Amino acid sequence: MAGPAPLIRIDQAREFDGQTVTLQGWVHNLRRSGKIAFPTFRDGSGFIQGVVVKQDVPEEIFERCRHLTHESSVRVTGKVRADERAPGGFELDVSDLEVVQAVPADQPFPITPKEHGVEFLMDQRHLWLRSRRQHAILRVRHEVIRAARDYFDNNGFTLVDTPILTPAACEGTTTLFQVPYFDYETAYLAQSGQLYSEATAAAFGKVYCFGPTFRAEKSKTRRHLTEFWMIEPEMAYADLNAVMDLAEDFLENVVQRVLKNKAEELKVLERDTSKLEKVKKPFPRISYDDAVEILKRKGSEIQWGGDFGGTDETLIGEDFEKPLMVHRFPMAIKAFYMQPDAERPELALGVDVLAPEGYGEIIGGGQRIHDYALLLQKLEEHKLPKEAFDWYLDLRRYGAVPHGGFGMGIERCVAWVCGLEHVRETIAFPRMLYRTRP
Ligand code: 4AD
Ligand code: MG
Repeated sequence: MAGPAPLIRIDQAREFDGQTVTLQGWVHNLRRSGKIAFPTFRDGSGFIQGVVVKQDVPEEIFERCRHLTHESSVRVTGKVRADERAPGGFELDVSDLEVVQAVPADQPFPITPKEHGVEFLMDQRHLWLRSRRQHAILRVRHEVIRAARDYFDNNGFTLVDTPILTPAACEGTTTLFQVPYFDYETAYLAQSGQLYSEATAAAFGKVYCFGPTFRAEKSKTRRHLTEFWMIEPEMAYADLNAVMDLAEDFLENVVQRVLKNKAEELKVLERDTSKLEKVKKPFPRISYDDAVEILKRKGSEIQWGGDFGGTDETLIGEDFEKPLMVHRFPMAIKAFYMQPDAERPELALGVDVLAPEGYGEIIGGGQRIHDYALLLQKLEEHKLPKEAFDWYLDLRRYGAVPHGGFGMGIERCVAWVCGLEHVRETIAFPRMLYRTRP
């Protein structure tokens, strides 16, 4: 007599072709007729269609399978069978099934295969995550994060995470979330780990941080979240060119790795992967001056000195098949810490990487001011409180060197790689202007 069937995950089906196995999961779907039922199961690792033939199983099991409700949890046993027509390449000939919890037929799972409005789905986000499409997006997100971490880990960067409760602004005072810090001061949720990474870069040479960042931006665009995840490398002894070289190599790596490891997911998302295959070095590099010229030619109202809006970024990027690096922006529209260009001090040695297909900025970074007097002057010009930046000024007192880095918003990168309309689907529980639930 054979022992109990091995417990496997659906993504292991290939290794168990022809064998009887047990799966633990949920009922994703059910089609049936009088003599046969086709429940689709999911277990988090994948989806597999079951086949239950009335004459091959006890009456009780067939009836149980015929009456399965969506998202009921089940333990199911059956024989794995390769089938070229099946979505994952395999089907399960069901011989036994136990219901762990039955979703009542009169209170069904709220999300059905019919079309639902986005607001409804966002309210049901805790349940929506079970759908095939959301599952695919979050698996791509995982791969983007893994690829990004591996890239830095394999290239001499040390992970040093930075605080979330901070005493001052990094990216402008207008987008700070305030937090009462006991009864003696106000703290702010970090907009970026950069300032702290500048300190750790002086200790470790090459570092990165990866964590949630916060912007109290009252923007309702498809690119803005109030809480997003940013991965930020920082290097001592680096200029703007070194930062651009790193951004280019990094992004190529991340995209090519997702293509290689998440082909199934990209297929579920119907992503045109030929566009992603073109994301190979070198990426075009143009100056802000040139970008403004391109925009004017395309009929934008922009004047030299103005910041790009989302529409401008889309317009500039649409002629390029690869990510586009725009560098040397006017100092006036960039953060206080940006190093001015020696030849044209009105320009900041910053770079934005714009994703193709109209996705706009996914990376922002550049070279930082390393001179004490200049930094002090910029803090004053930006009306930032010197006391809160004393430690940051110290970095210019003790062994200052040219240094720089960048930040990539994970959600914007995932939205682009997956080809999504909006960043809200790229994170499990998005936080946006009018949404803090579920
Ligand atoms: O361009 P940003 O503001 O740059 C910084 O924060 C630098 N301190 C990073 C650095 O040099 N270490 O933000 C960097 C990236 C953007 O390119 C974008 O991908 C993402 O963070 N980002 C957002 N993503 C979603 N919602 C928002 N509101 C975002 N704001 C920025
Ligand atoms: Mg930016």
